Amino acid sequence: MAGTDRSQASYRVPHGGCVRGEIAVPGDKSVSHRAVLLGAIAEGTTEVENFLESEDCLATLNAMRALGVGIERPAAGRVVVEGVGLDGLQAPTASLDMGNAGTAMRLSMGLLAGQRFGATLVGDASLSRRPMERAAAPLRLMGARIDTSGGRPPVTMHGGCRLQGIDCTLEVPSAQVKSALLIAGLYAEGETIVREPAPTRDHTERMLRAFGVPVQSEPGRVALRGRARLHAAHLQVPGDLSSAAFFIVAGVIAGEGRFLIRDVGINPTRTGLLAILRLMGADIRVRNARLAGDEPLADLEVHASELKGIEVPRALVPLAIDEFPVLFVAAACARGTTVVAGAAELRVKESDRIAVMAEGLSALGIEALPRPDGLSIVGGTLQGGRVASHGDHRVAMAFAIAALRARSDVLVEDVANVATSFPGFAAIARHAGMAIEEVR
Ligand code: S3P
Repeated sequence: MAGTDRSQASYRVPHGGCVRGEIAVPGDKSVSHRAVLLGAIAEGTTEVENFLESEDCLATLNAMRALGVGIERPAAGRVVVEGVGLDGLQAPTASLDMGNAGTAMRLSMGLLAGQRFGATLVGDASLSRRPMERAAAPLRLMGARIDTSGGRPPVTMHGGCRLQGIDCTLEVPSAQVKSALLIAGLYAEGETIVREPAPTRDHTERMLRAFGVPVQSEPGRVALRGRARLHAAHLQVPGDLSSAAFFIVAGVIAGEGRFLIRDVGINPTRTGLLAILRLMGADIRVRNARLAGDEPLADLEVHASELKGIEVPRALVPLAIDEFPVLFVAAACARGTTVVAGAAELRVKESDRIAVMAEGLSALGIEALPRPDGLSIVGGTLQGGRVASHGDHRVAMAFAIAALRARSDVLVEDVANVATSFPGFAAIARHAGMAIEEVR
């Protein structure tokens, strides 16, 4: 789709209504990126089930193909990766386009840091504004040669560098940076140790173990030794909690009866949203908890609940980092004020989510006061109207959910990027009972 066409896509969402019945959401974005990237450098054939076929994950998949890895998609959600081993990647013949995907870019920086060849990573307008030095700087300490453009993409990775393991303390809690360093650490001499100021998602550590790499984890510290070989694995991707989040909030603010979201990943480094909503008074029950390979999975039963405003505990912020757009909508529906602090990272996501959410909530008649590192929201009555998503997929979906409690219809503009993480969002919303329409 051409850029101008994309920005004209909108959601028209009638106000009111409810969600009910049962749904399932597509595969986890973070796990899907890692499955093709690590499968690419494993020895043997890795099979991935329930791979998320979104634009972001396909950017990683196409990048691996451009590095000479054979990847097939024999059926929906099924991906077969012919791993080439640690040293089997080939130089790409063109720049690698990561689209909108920060995860694709930062994890690929870790992968490319120790290759014989160089490569240039580019992205769309949003990704081209996002900070890359947080990954580049520690990778340089390992011996990589990397040029960024004033700290942002395009990123040029120079080849032929010998990497050395380092002991690195991250300045910001970031699973992408942690993962980039661990992946580079596979190519380094000696031990790579990453210390994080707060726990972040641990999918890379879990998946490396599934590929047979010994990874040592203890609270605040992860370590691995270089040159460990990866052995092909069979991977089952759980449903994405970050996609389920929109429907969890929908069920809490407008559920009817027992609303069930099946097969959702409940890795404890991802479940901050559930903890925060429960502190606000939400009734969310975990059913049928089990394992999908190395990742925990469950069905979530959500009941309509009266919410109250809270001060969100700072320790929960990194565990819910992608869920704040829809959490802010829940806060708008709560009695009293909700205060989020310690969340400055939200300013460097696909959009400045503090500014963009404050603007959109204000457009819908909610008092939302941005601060440098968060937002305070006074619960009230959502009005209808027109909201700009600024091309941010999670902002677009959050405001579609807000319509459930609005006094008139909501038009959410610029929603094409929903396809980066949640293709089929509108169809699943309709299945749950919402009368959302995609319009141009
Ligand atoms: C992700 C890590 C988080 C998250 C992103 C996915 C990952 O980013 O916001 O959507 O898959 O590692 P940061 O590492 O920048 O916090």
